[in-house]
Amino acid sequence: MGELHNLISIHDLSREDIDMILECAQKMEDIAVKRSKKYSSKIMACLFFEASTRTRLSFESAMIRLGGRVLGFADVAASSAGGKGETLADTIRTVERYADIIVIRHPLDGSARVAAEFSEIPIINAGSGSEEHPTQALLDLYSIKKMRGTIDGLSISLCGDLKYGRTVHSLGMALACYDVKVKLAAPTALKMKPAIIEEMKRAGIEVIQVDTLDEAIEDADVVYMTRIQKERFPDRREYDAVKGKFRLTEPDVKRMKEDTIILHPLPRVDEITADVDSTPQAKYFDQVYNGVVTRMAILDLILG
Ligand code: NCD
Repeated sequence: MGELHNLISIHDLSREDIDMILECAQKMEDIAVKRSKKYSSKIMACLFFEASTRTRLSFESAMIRLGGRVLGFADVAASSAGGKGETLADTIRTVERYADIIVIRHPLDGSARVAAEFSEIPIINAGSGSEEHPTQALLDLYSIKKMRGTIDGLSISLCGDLKYGRTVHSLGMALACYDVKVKLAAPTALKMKPAIIEEMKRAGIEVIQVDTLDEAIEDADVVYMTRIQKERFPDRREYDAVKGKFRLTEPDVKRMKEDTIILHPLPRVDEITADVDSTPQAKYFDQVYNGVVTRMAILDLILG
């Protein structure tokens, strides 16, 4: 693959690039346990203007396992952007003088791209508004490959908030590179953006839109659940009208194939009931660890 400086969108990567990252992530499984000193001279800054548990901590864990150091803030209120009204551009122009790579999460669409415009050092998008979350899509693909042995040939159902959920936007675009069948299951008000459906269809993959979880589960090899993105609704009443609409329960799992895997980027609210957790199909907590090795691969690719 060519030099990758920033990772802002899944569109920055070709199928070959994605496959290479997944292969590298697999090699990182061993290094993640043994640890490395490869990047002991490098510093990663995490700028999180929005809540995060897994993305920030797995990036930090990934960098530390590669021998690097980390700094940053996890709460916008503690930064000058929150407390004093500093612009994103000025924050980036400052932090690039403290670190070798920046991982940024921000509530606005386009924020990571703006950050990249002002930065001399690489920028990784860790979630930009409801737009994209490319590193989550890569760890989702890695999870599918690791758990099912392949991505090509699978029937994959993306369920829940397909309108505001950034993980399914990036994952949908990434799946357009593969030979898969995709079902999109969402309440009417939360359907997938037409541009992404078009992209998948143009790539020649079969895309079916359904309205219920029942239809999504049928014959699926992967059931990818998502949280309704309450914080992104312009109107609270719109959220109230759809909340709790899609809920995966243990009886639903009984109707799945034995080797179906259930994934979720987490955090979960109520869209997967607790009784699903102990079923063999529930893989969302195993998926969490894959974030560490996938992000090690991404950091290695950009810093290496
Ligand atoms: C997701 C996000 O932030 O977009 N979380 C994550 O990074 N694993 C999903 C969500 O918040 O629902």
